[in-house]
Amino acid sequence: MGKWFPTVYDWAMNPFEKGRFEEIRRELIHKVYGKVLEIGAGSGINFPFYRDVEGVDAIEPNPAMVAKSNRRSELAVVPIHIHEQKAENLSFDDDTFDTVIATLVFCTIPNPVQALEEIKRVCKPGGKVLFFEHVKMEQPNLAHLQDWLNPFWKRICDGCHLNRETLELVKESGIEVVSVSSYYKGLFLTVECVNH
Ligand SMILES: C[S@@+](CC[C@H](N)C(=O)[O-])C[C@H]1O[C@@H](n2cnc3c(N)ncnc32)[C@H](O)[C@@H]1O
Repeated sequence: MGKWFPTVYDWAMNPFEKGRFEEIRRELIHKVYGKVLEIGAGSGINFPFYRDVEGVDAIEPNPAMVAKSNRRSELAVVPIHIHEQKAENLSFDDDTFDTVIATLVFCTIPNPVQALEEIKRVCKPGGKVLFFEHVKMEQPNLAHLQDWLNPFWKRICDGCHLNRETLELVKESGIEVVSVSSYYKGLFLTVECVNH
């Protein structure tokens, strides 16, 4: 797991965060409630947006990211507990969370199918599952370009897959997709789901 990636991540994301991303994150996080699990919290970029929740458990496997997110958690207005672990093997009991949220993380998780199984397990029946992800685009030329760039991209961006079909994986997992919003011509999606 890259050490340099956590060092440059916030800096590299800054132009996007100052633009539309902050608004997208804020709108999505506005929908969380109760006991919340955040998957792959990275440097804790979402932490300032949480309001009126019971608490947030955030998991993140990269120790350098955990160190950064620990600093950000001190600025949050809700209790945040950070756990160094992977989405494919969560340490929580079945039916623990009211909401599970993942932002820009399913591109990087090595086994997304197993991670979705774990999310289904730890989220309460009827609980919310929310995603903000970049995905393989529908436009064939752009999708082809994503396929072509992917091997280089993965190496530079700490295992991030540029062409992952996360929405299809979510649908196949049995988590019910309630609504999908598309940004930047379908490169980014927010997906609101219910766990059944
Ligand atoms: C592109 S960053 C996104 C960080 C943050 N969620 C955001 O919205 O900016 C992807 C994150 O996924 C984490 N990650 C990688 N493999 C993971 C796994 N198996 N389970 C959970 N998180 C993982 C990485 O360490 C990294 O912090």
